[in-house]
Amino acid sequence: MSLETLERETLAQVDAAADEAALEAVRVAALGKKGTISEQMKGLGAMSPDERKNFGAALNLLKDKVTEAIATRKASLADKALNERLARETVDVTLPVRGEGRGTIHPVNQVWEEIVQIFGDLGFAVAEGPHIEDDFHNFDALNMPPEHPARQEHDTFYFNEKPDGSRLVLRTHTSPVQIRTMKTQAPPIRIIAPGRTFRSDSDMTHTPMFNQVEGLVIDETTHMGHLKWVLHEFCKAFFEVNEVRMRFRASHFPFTEPSMEVDIQCSWKDGQVKIGEGDSWLEILGSGMVHPNVMKASGLDPAKVQGFAFGMGIDRVAMLKYGIPDLRAFFDSDLRWLRHYGFRSLNVPTLAGGLS
Ligand code: DAH
Repeated sequence: MSLETLERETLAQVDAAADEAALEAVRVAALGKKGTISEQMKGLGAMSPDERKNFGAALNLLKDKVTEAIATRKASLADKALNERLARETVDVTLPVRGEGRGTIHPVNQVWEEIVQIFGDLGFAVAEGPHIEDDFHNFDALNMPPEHPARQEHDTFYFNEKPDGSRLVLRTHTSPVQIRTMKTQAPPIRIIAPGRTFRSDSDMTHTPMFNQVEGLVIDETTHMGHLKWVLHEFCKAFFEVNEVRMRFRASHFPFTEPSMEVDIQCSWKDGQVKIGEGDSWLEILGSGMVHPNVMKASGLDPAKVQGFAFGMGIDRVAMLKYGIPDLRAFFDSDLRWLRHYGFRSLNVPTLAGGLS
């Protein structure tokens, strides 16, 4: 085939390529190692020096022409693809809005945000950790060795055993975020860690997936007075009352020493609970001073720093604040329930604008 014919045919193929993939195939067929143009090089060896000079120059010219034609075609194909995409993805901003939306914010999301707002105002940052945890972060580092009885109480969801005998778990509480935070941040530490937790348990007040918020403060002189003050401020702000009496009851958790369960004052009238009045008590959270073993497991020196921690059920305090009787309904996705207990999307909780 003469070089003229080769040129005409190749350039026609370039023009005919409908997309970038087809163009690439044309390029390989012409300029690739075994391409039609590259093959012409093989003839050069058998030619006289003069012939070789002329033919070589013509061949180089052809190569350059084809290369340039491919580049031009490629740019125009890319332009075309972009224009098509822009045409396809247009949004008509003049469309009328759909009026009052029927969707609502779930009480758990609303309360989660209220909690973040309150602790944010007190100078706490939000920390996160994985839902799938290892034994070390969920138990060991929290002063719960393998034979510890508290492990049984957690109704843990285990994953299948790995070849080395270890098993991952769905975290049973948000406390492992304490460990992860202390391992990666130098004190002073002031965090809350809201998030999902999992236990194999289900009745009126328990669901296999539920939400907790962990609190952790580590500094050089942080003491129990600070813990009590923070929790008192939180309860007043959260339940939107001027005063609420609180009761700190001695308790036991492996990861704190001393440990306290915290009750708040409430009244029961016609099956309705009111926080901040009356003479009944409701338990709302667990807390204590971080155990020295927990600090050591996280790489901190308990002789130099100390602090407190607490853990609270987000769903539980949402039920209390908004008078929701059955926890299981939280996760049923029943639209009638959501319309009744849900919040309007513009009702964003802030301390200044009011939480609820
Ligand atoms: N991790 C505990 C639980 O899930 C709750 C808790 C209690 C967390 C006391 C704490 C604490 O940080 O100090 O039941």
